Amino acid sequence: MHLSLLNSKEENRNQIVPTTTCLHATKQDMKNPFEQFNLWWKNALADSPLKQKSAVCISTIDQHGFPSGRFVDLKEVNETGFIFCTYLDSAKGEHLKHNPKIAMTIWWDHVGYQIRVQGSATPINQDQALKYWKTRSKEAQLTTTAFQQSQTLELEAELQTRIDSISHKYLHAEIPKPNAWGGYIIVPHSIEFLSFRESRLHLRALYTLSDSLWTKSFLQP
Ligand SMILES: Cc1cc2nc3c(=O)[nH]c(=O)nc-3n(C[C@H](O)[C@H](O)[C@H](O)COP(=O)(O)O)c2cc1C
Repeated sequence: MHLSLLNSKEENRNQIVPTTTCLHATKQDMKNPFEQFNLWWKNALADSPLKQKSAVCISTIDQHGFPSGRFVDLKEVNETGFIFCTYLDSAKGEHLKHNPKIAMTIWWDHVGYQIRVQGSATPINQDQALKYWKTRSKEAQLTTTAFQQSQTLELEAELQTRIDSISHKYLHAEIPKPNAWGGYIIVPHSIEFLSFRESRLHLRALYTLSDSLWTKSFLQP
């Protein structure tokens, strides 16, 4: 029998309940952290009260060595890593050009899950980026095309004037993906899953990658 904390209800967070589907308290199970991640993500998405259901915090290292965090939408998870999209020439894009080290942090309050990922970010190719571009709303595509993320904005009014002018230009035309818009895949070397308990007796499972093999251990709360 596996011990886990899969409960989405606040009142259940202090209990360890038996289940076969979750954060296993034996080292033998769930050797693959992606399996664990997908299980938790699916669980967090079910009946989620969050408006931005896929928001995750990614932290990069700036040119002065300071960590810099911000939220992005997690687009996809596969057996290689975690994909998000952004402007490649934004502040985060510049950080990653100089230092690909990255952290991703998630807190899903309604299920009491924290996930911490450390790894390296690699740009996805243009074809993959185009696939994500096509899933964006026209509104989002217009905004992306009209602005250069992280650059100074002279006047607030510019937000609207730029959108008006670009909307006019693409009134009856498809909006091409700007070259500077793409995505990254975070290839992890460690992933920690924490199941929160009010008592602070959190259950923490750490997966670390070494020689292409994931090893699982538990951490004190
Ligand atoms: C919920 C939420 C989701 C966001 N999703 C994205 C995203 O997927 N891509 C992105 O570039 N910015 C996204 N942003 C904006 C970023 O937080 C950030 O302001 C922007 O990427 C500029 O960051 P930078 O100047 O450090 O590069 C999102 C913000 C919030 C609050």
